[in-house]
Amino acid sequence: MGKEQLKHFKMRATALDVFFKKNKDRKTVVIQGLGFVGAAMLTAVARATDSNNKPLYAVIGTDLPNAGGMNKIDCINEGKLPFKCSDQFLQRVFTKCFRQGNIIATCDKRAYKVADILVVDINLDVKKKGLKNSSKNKVFFSNFVKAMRQAAKLVKPSCLIIIESTVPPGTCEKVLLPIFKLEFKNRGYLRRSVDLVHSYERVMPGRNYLNSIISYFRVFSGINKKAKKKAREFFESFIDAKKYPLAELENTTASEIGKVLENSFRAINIALIQEWTEFAEAAGVDLYKVLDAIRKRETHRNIMNPGFGVGGYCLTKDSIIADFGLRNLFRKRRRLAMSLNAVNVNDKMPFHSFSILTKQLGKLKDKTVLIMGVSYLKDISDTRNSPSEIFYRICARQEAKVLAHDPLVEYWPEMKIKVSNDLSELRKNKADAVIFAVNHDSYLKLRPVVFAEFLKPKAFILDANNVINDRKSSALRKMGYRLLGVGKGHWKF
Ligand SMILES: NC(=O)c1ccc[n+]([C@@H]2O[C@H](COP(=O)([O-])OP(=O)(O)OC[C@H]3O[C@@H](n4cnc5c(N)ncnc54)[C@H](O)[C@@H]3O)[C@@H](O)[C@H]2O)c1
Repeated sequence: MGKEQLKHFKMRATALDVFFKKNKDRKTVVIQGLGFVGAAMLTAVARATDSNNKPLYAVIGTDLPNAGGMNKIDCINEGKLPFKCSDQFLQRVFTKCFRQGNIIATCDKRAYKVADILVVDINLDVKKKGLKNSSKNKVFFSNFVKAMRQAAKLVKPSCLIIIESTVPPGTCEKVLLPIFKLEFKNRGYLRRSVDLVHSYERVMPGRNYLNSIISYFRVFSGINKKAKKKAREFFESFIDAKKYPLAELENTTASEIGKVLENSFRAINIALIQEWTEFAEAAGVDLYKVLDAIRKRETHRNIMNPGFGVGGYCLTKDSIIADFGLRNLFRKRRRLAMSLNAVNVNDKMPFHSFSILTKQLGKLKDKTVLIMGVSYLKDISDTRNSPSEIFYRICARQEAKVLAHDPLVEYWPEMKIKVSNDLSELRKNKADAVIFAVNHDSYLKLRPVVFAEFLKPKAFILDANNVINDRKSSALRKMGYRLLGVGKGHWKF
């Protein structure tokens, strides 16, 4: 450790001591992992108050001592969320909790030793081997298990351990429980029960970020009655459980299955609509209108819309994690074929938009293509597995000049490029084609006259995410632009 680093580390250690002193009468909750889930959970838990309206918990966020982890830790200790956020409520609550002094972040291992409750929000990654066969992908389960083994060496045996990370079903019962039992035994705590719980996050980064934790239904289960009871008390302290009753399942494996099944269901729903999108386009039908009519049936309300692709951290991997659990923790040879196939179909969705684009523009060499939206979902800044990344790469491979705009992303880490946040910046370099990849709110509000700022006359507009309605599309067509839309078979040149 260099001199500067050592100084920094000592300063942080002192800040942690001050924090312990200031919050000595409060239960300590450690949130392990300060990513998109952990940083929001930190805020949700720090917001909880006792009957005197005083903060209930001292909340410590921990992350890895690497550049990414330290950056998140520093952000939190400077009173900033470690990501750009469109939810003003989350922003406000975080600032309030930071000022009231019951939040701190650290990579100091002492945090684990004082934890009364440990909430695990770390990543369990999947590495994809191409886009064609999700049954051949690699699941980094051992990294997750190693992190849990380290935690088991540090936490008090009375600590309530809540796994929120998405894990292969069977993980708590078959892998983590034996590890915690063994580590507690090695430390001389014989016959201690382990208060181990699984409860999955349904957090939705976006405008309703914080409410998707504190005002939403939550599923959980524990390894035994005591763990379930402690978990229920904890959740009821920061979730509006009167309005959104908690769903307690029989055992942790059931809760683990709940998470991956939920996301596999959604992935299959999207993959199904991709098939019908292509049908509707071939038949000249507006699939959005068909789907609106179908949604009138109560049983079909949540049928998905056509779109540009599926990204983010969860839907792109959770079926693969489920399949890993079935084979490795339950020793079954069969695969979750339908769920895995949905992941494959969804991974390839941006190629559909690409083929529409090249049919209109021909070879892309030296053409300027503008991608509007690089995050994986509307009104968020998360670019992980964004379908725009695949689209960008295939356009660039054909030597197109690719420009990217996003109201919430300044730097695109996966592509290692700066992203324009300002449409007027694009005036200098007008595009031959624009693709609306994400339906950010600000895109929905764009007036037709603004398009001339970033498009050449007669440019091609591809609406891959229902950003442009029929009225606006007529206006744009009158201005000389050519338009097509994914799922909008009724749009003709
Ligand atoms: N992002 C979502 O919308 C979402 C929703 C529901 C569930 N989940 C699940 O929640 C988990 C976390 O997701 P995320 O999006 O926050 O991931 P993320 O990658 O944004 O954050 C994970 C964080 O954990 C840190 N970390 C890794 N190992 C650690 C360790 N040993 N100790 C301390 N910190 C460590 C990483 O450095 C990173 O900052 C995943 O299992 C994910 O599938 C995510």
